[in-house]
Order: sequence, then C-alpha cells, then structure tokens
Amino acid sequence: MTTAEAALAVLRWYADAGVDEAIGADPTDFFAADPILSPKTPPPLSGQAVDADEPNWPQRNSLPPPPIAPIAKTNAPSTDEAVAAATNLAASCDTFEALCAAIEAFDGCALKNGARNTVVFDGVIGADLLIMGEAPGRDEDRVGKPFVGRAGQLLDKMLGAIGRSRTENTLISNVIFWRPPGNRTPTATEVAVCKPFVDRLIHLNQPKAIVLAGNAPLQALLGRTGITRARGNWSEIEGPGSEKIPVLPMFHPAFLLRRPEQKRLAWHDLQSVAARLTNS
Ligand code: URA
Repeated sequence: MTTAEAALAVLRWYADAGVDEAIGADPTDFFAADPILSPKTPPPLSGQAVDADEPNWPQRNSLPPPPIAPIAKTNAPSTDEAVAAATNLAASCDTFEALCAAIEAFDGCALKNGARNTVVFDGVIGADLLIMGEAPGRDEDRVGKPFVGRAGQLLDKMLGAIGRSRTENTLISNVIFWRPPGNRTPTATEVAVCKPFVDRLIHLNQPKAIVLAGNAPLQALLGRTGITRARGNWSEIEGPGSEKIPVLPMFHPAFLLRRPEQKRLAWHDLQSVAARLTNS
C-alpha cells in the first residue's frame, strides 16, 4: 500500500466511524498555536538557509507542542444578556418570516460562528402536529433545513406511517438552530439561549400536539432528562393563551437507526400521536 492509499484508508475509517469534522467543541486558532504556521519573523527567502539556532525558527520536531490557544471570546454577551436579547427579539415577531429573520440575525449563540446555515423549520406552518428535534447535523447545516439526513429520512417514513408528512400536515423544527461542532450534545446555555425563539415558534404555530424527539427537546420543553423513561407519556406545556398543548416525548430517529429493535416502542408512540390528533 502506498503512503497516499494508507492515508486515505485511515480517513475512510474515521468517516465510517462518524468523525466528519476535524474540530473541537470550541473554536481554536490553530495558526496561533503553531510557531511554524505563525512565525514571529517573516519566512526566509527561498534558497536562504534556515538557522536552526534562530529562536524564531524552531525545527518542527525539536520542540514540545505549544499549548493550543482557544480564540478569545471578546464582547460575548453573558448567558443572561443573550437570553434577554433573544426574549425581546422573539416577542417582536408576529410571523414565521419575521421569526426566521430574527433568528438569522441573532448573534447571541456561539454555535452560529461555526455553522454554515441557520436551520429553523421545514413543513407546513400552522400544522396541528409539530415535531421538535435536537439540533441540525451535517446534512441539515449544509441544506439549511431540519431532518434531511438519514435520521430525517426515517422520520419521514415514521410520519408517513400515520398519514403525516412535512409537505401536507406537519411542521418540523429543532430546539437549537445551528449545528453543534461534531454533532455534540448542545449545552444547557445553548438550549437556554435558543428557547425564547422555540417558544415563539410554538406560539405562532399553535400546534394541537408536539412530539419531542430525544433528550434535548425533552430537557428544553419539559425540563426533564431520561427519554427512555419519559417516552410514550403525554404531558402538557402552556400555549400562547395559557391553553395546554399536549406533548409526547419519543425516541429520536437517529437512536432508532442505531437500535432498530426499539422501533416497536416508537410505533406505539406514533399511534398514540395519531389517535390524539384524530380525537382533538
Ligand atoms: N437530528 C435532529 O435532532 N435534528 C435535525 O434536524 C437532524 C438530526
């Protein structure tokens, strides 16, 4: 095997294992961390010998690796400030169009800095069923719509099984509007900062039932953790006019892709959703 083939084989192995981004949880200035990439003096002219004793020109393998410096978070609002700004902005939105524009313009969530797109919703505005997921993944970030990757395709099939679709009678969104790096779980701060927009989306849409797909929406909307225990049990959140909106936690489609034997429980939950909406 040539060196190039070996390198490609390793990359393929990483991709198959789900490692699709060479990044961490926080933005990192790798140029600043590497004295070769970020020299204190200009590079030598071509043909000019590099003096290994010159302190600004360390040999790549002769120094211990420098500490990696996270990018300074200058002028970043505190969580309270960001939540307050999101709350004011969300309250000023009377239409979905205004809400999407407000979320896109909002700079209070650091995830936006690493995302290609702001992903707000897909489907039918005003639909009686709202599906709330976690956060955009790689495909959603690229396309700008929620649930368009493999998990989204499974979600579409699940909805189809109860006569539902995003083109006819269902609205789909997430509790986070920007892709977390490497698809990590959103932090409590990120969830809190996005929450006023999520509440506004629910208020503007006025669904008759909401499905919480996975732990993040369960935590964001019901303040609970533990989807395995919570799934299949209806509870309520307060709607715009203090009316109650029924909410059902369910397994996330991405989980069902990994654990297909759990689809039996998901089917049970889907039928419960269908029955609830038929009787409402
Ligand atoms: N998973 C989610 O929770 N939401 C998406 O939009 C895609 C995958």
